[in-house]
Amino acid sequence: MEDDKDLPACNLSFLIGHLSFFILEIRRDLLYNAKITATAHYVPKKVVTNEDLEKFLDTSDEWIRTRTGIRQRHMVEKGVATSDLAAEASRRLLERRGISASEIDCIIVATVTPDMFFPSTACILQEKIGARNAWGFDLSGACTGFVYALAAAVQFVHSGAHRKVLVAGADVMTSILNPQDRNTYVLFGDGAGVALVEPTSPGEEGILDFILRSDGSGGKYLYMPGGGSLNPPTHETVQKKMHYVHQDGRAVFKYAVVGMAEVSLEILKRNNFCASDVVLYVPHQANSRIVDAAVERMGLDKSKVVLNIDRYANTTAATIPIGLSEACERNRVRRGDLVLMASFGAGFTWGSLLLRWAA
Ligand code: COA
Repeated sequence: MEDDKDLPACNLSFLIGHLSFFILEIRRDLLYNAKITATAHYVPKKVVTNEDLEKFLDTSDEWIRTRTGIRQRHMVEKGVATSDLAAEASRRLLERRGISASEIDCIIVATVTPDMFFPSTACILQEKIGARNAWGFDLSGACTGFVYALAAAVQFVHSGAHRKVLVAGADVMTSILNPQDRNTYVLFGDGAGVALVEPTSPGEEGILDFILRSDGSGGKYLYMPGGGSLNPPTHETVQKKMHYVHQDGRAVFKYAVVGMAEVSLEILKRNNFCASDVVLYVPHQANSRIVDAAVERMGLDKSKVVLNIDRYANTTAATIPIGLSEACERNRVRRGDLVLMASFGAGFTWGSLLLRWAA
């Protein structure tokens, strides 16, 4: 008797289970996929070579080149802010895409060097390029900021809320570097890169997947202690050089090698791809040895790797969009190509993003 009573209940939950599965599938079909439709970048004109740094730092071109792969970096002139670099890159992007700034719905600026605490650099950028119909916000994800921001943009497009999201990765790292600290000053440069995220057309795949990670226990290895609510600016914070980047380079190096390879391999595996399917790998560029180690762990052909650290050094959130933009300019990527990005940075933050190029 008891069995007979349970039977209809069982059937009902089975039915509900199946029904919700179908509803989810139908919803997924109705959602929009997102793709990158244009990229652009801008770096300031001033070039500072390793030899230039030898003049005032206890360092050498040979040490910097062999330990990091960096030969030179671009630096802003006094008075040039992150939003200026992002605005120039955005203007180039708008021209390439052939749209006006007023068509942009949302602006996300990934940066750790905003023009100021507030207003957001996104608002300043909006004003500079005349994106009067957009709203926007800044995203603090350090070197992984652009990957985080792209993933956020995908959600706005995916839900149907927005059709044109401008994603910028921009940093003026020289504004927070101690020119007397050879451990950090030689490693970074200034720059900006942008990408436009829009819905895919029927039949296009666009952005396929992303993995985003963070581990706050790594915060002590790379940080800028001064200027925030914990250590507001005082004479003491200035004297103690708290408004500059502090880094345990060796520790960051070790975590970065593992993190970059981990998220790169994982995203390929869970999408049933292998390294040989990747046409373009755009890794964050903190150190060419970190990139080499990750590429080796992945078993990826080196010819597929974007490497421009020799010319730009580490431009933090700008690194990946600059790399992507240069790759497009050099025709290294075509429609349908599988593109993989991966990054690691302060936080610790790290992540990867996989897409079929559809621009
Ligand atoms: N010029 C000359 N010597 C330098 C130097 C410089 N610019 N910077 C550091 N050194 C010295 C160190 O003081 C150390 O001297 P010591 O042995 O007398 O103490 C020596 O070079 C070796 O330092 P070490 O830390 O072992 O070098 P490394 O091979 O690990 O390279 C980094 C250092 C910083 C380049 C490397 O660890 C790195 O790239 N880390 C990742 C950091 C990063 O880019 N983070 C950004 C966010 S991802």
